[in-house]
Amino acid sequence: CLNRHPCLRRPGYSGLTYDCINELTFLSPPSPPSLSVVNEYLFMVQATGIHIKDNVKNIGAQVLEQVVRGGYNINGTDYAYDFNLSESDVPPTTYLPDSFTYLSSQICPERLPSMKGRLEVNMSEMALEDVERVLLNAEPSMTLGGYWKPRDCVPRWKVAILVPFRNRHEHLPILLRHLIPALQRQRLQFAFYVVEQVGSEPFNRAMLFNVGFREAMRDLDWDCMVFHDVDHMLENDRNYYGCGDMPRHFAVKLNKYSYMLPYNEFFGGVSGLTVEQFTKINGFPNAFWGWGGEDDDLWNRVQYANYTVSRPQGELGRYMSIPHHHRGEVQFLGRYTLLRRSKERQSLDGLNNLQYSPLLSRRPLYTNISVSLSRKLAPIADYN
Ligand SMILES: *[C@@H]1O[C@H](CO)[C@@H](O)[C@H](O)[C@H]1NC(C)=O
Ligand SMILES: *[C@@H]1O[C@H](CO)[C@@H](O)[C@H](O)[C@H]1NC(C)=O
Ligand SMILES: *[C@@H]1O[C@H](CO)[C@@H](O)[C@H](O)[C@H]1NC(C)=O
Ligand SMILES: *[C@@H]1O[C@H](CO)[C@@H](O)[C@H](O)[C@H]1NC(C)=O
Ligand SMILES: *[C@@H]1O[C@H](CO)[C@@H](O)[C@H](O)[C@H]1NC(C)=O
Repeated sequence: CLNRHPCLRRPGYSGLTYDCINELTFLSPPSPPSLSVVNEYLFMVQATGIHIKDNVKNIGAQVLEQVVRGGYNINGTDYAYDFNLSESDVPPTTYLPDSFTYLSSQICPERLPSMKGRLEVNMSEMALEDVERVLLNAEPSMTLGGYWKPRDCVPRWKVAILVPFRNRHEHLPILLRHLIPALQRQRLQFAFYVVEQVGSEPFNRAMLFNVGFREAMRDLDWDCMVFHDVDHMLENDRNYYGCGDMPRHFAVKLNKYSYMLPYNEFFGGVSGLTVEQFTKINGFPNAFWGWGGEDDDLWNRVQYANYTVSRPQGELGRYMSIPHHHRGEVQFLGRYTLLRRSKERQSLDGLNNLQYSPLLSRRPLYTNISVSLSRKLAPIADYN
C-alpha cells in the first residue's frame, strides 16, 4: 500500500528521493483519476528525454508526490508534507484602479484595471460562427482576420498569436471565445494566425510555427510572437501576453500536470518571443516530425543564445487544457537523438532552411494559413 511506504512515513518528510521514485513508479496506481496522473508522469519522463537525468530528483519527486496525494484520500494527517498549494496571487493593489484615465497618446500600461485575475474557463463546444457573432458584437472594431487594437491608448506590444492546427475543429472556437476578450482587456494589439498542416506527414508543430512567423511578418510589422497550442486556456487574465527582454514561458502550471511545472526546462504550451529573439535563435527546428521534443529544442536554442526564460509568478501561469488524446498523431521517437545535437543543428535547421507554399484565407477572427509540409522542404543532415 503506497501510503505506508517508508519513503512517505519518514519523519520530517518533505518530498521523495530518487530511490523512492524508482521503487514507487512501478507500483500500480490506486484509482482511475490518478491513473491519468501516472500516465502524465510517465509521459513527462519520456518527453523530457535527455533532460530527465539531470532533473529526475526535482520533477520526479514533485510529480510523484502529486500522484501519491491524488490517489489517496489523505485528510492531512496520514503523513506530513510541506507542499503549499495555496500560492497567493499578485496583490490587486499593484494594478491600476478602476478610475484610471487612459490617454490615446500614451502607451497602455501593463497592469490594467480591466485585468481582473482569475477567469472561468468554459469548455463547452460552440460553433465557430456563433463565436464570431458574439465577439464581433462585443467589439465591432475587429476586422476580417481578427485584427484588433485598443483605441484609448497606444498598444505596448503588437502580438501575433500563432496557433498550430490539425484536426481540432472543435477546440478552436473554445480558444478564440476565451482568449480574445482577455487580450482586449490587456489592451494589446493582436491578430490570430491558425497554421493548419495538410497532407499525411506526421504533425510538425515547430515547422508550423516557423511558417506562421514568416507569414505573419509578411502581413504586418508585429514585434511579439506568441506560440499557442489550441487546447490551452489561460486561467488568469493578468498573465500578460506581451513579450519582454527575455523569451517568456506563459503556460507554467497546467492542470494536466497537477498545476506544477513538470521540469525546469519545460517550454511547452504557450511561449512568447520578440521578433528579434526568435530571429536570433533561428526559430524552431523543422526536423521534429510527430509530437514531443520540439519545445525542449527551443529551450536549448534560447539558452545557447544566452537568453534566460522568464515566467509569470504564482497563480498567474495557470492553464487548463482541453482533454484529448493525441488523436492519430504519432510520437516523434527520434527526438532524443536530435536533442543531443541541439547546438550544432541550431544554425542549420530553422527559419533559414525553410521552404513552403501556403494557402491563405481570412476568417472573421483569424487568418487561415494552410500548408502542406514534407521533409524535403527543410533539408537537414541525417543524425543517427
Ligand atoms: C477523510 O475525508 C473523507 C471525505 O473527504 C471522509 O469521508 C473521511 O471520513 C475522512 N477520514 C478521516 C479519518 O477523517
Ligand atoms: C501557504 O501559503 C499561503 C500564502 O502564501 C500562506 O498564507 C499560508 O500560511 C501557507 N500555508 C502553510 C501551511 O505554510
Ligand atoms: C458555456 O458556453 C455554453 C455555450 O455557449 C453556454 O450555453 C453556457 O451557458 C456557458 N457556461 C457558462 C458557465 O458560462
Ligand atoms: C554566450 O555567452 C558566451 C559566454 O559569455 C559567449 O562565449 C558566447 O559567444 C555567447 N553566445 C551568443 C550567441 O551570444
Ligand atoms: C483553412 O483553409 C483550408 C483550405 O481552404 C480549409 O480546408 C480548412 O478547413 C481551414 N481551416 C481552418 C481552421 O479554418
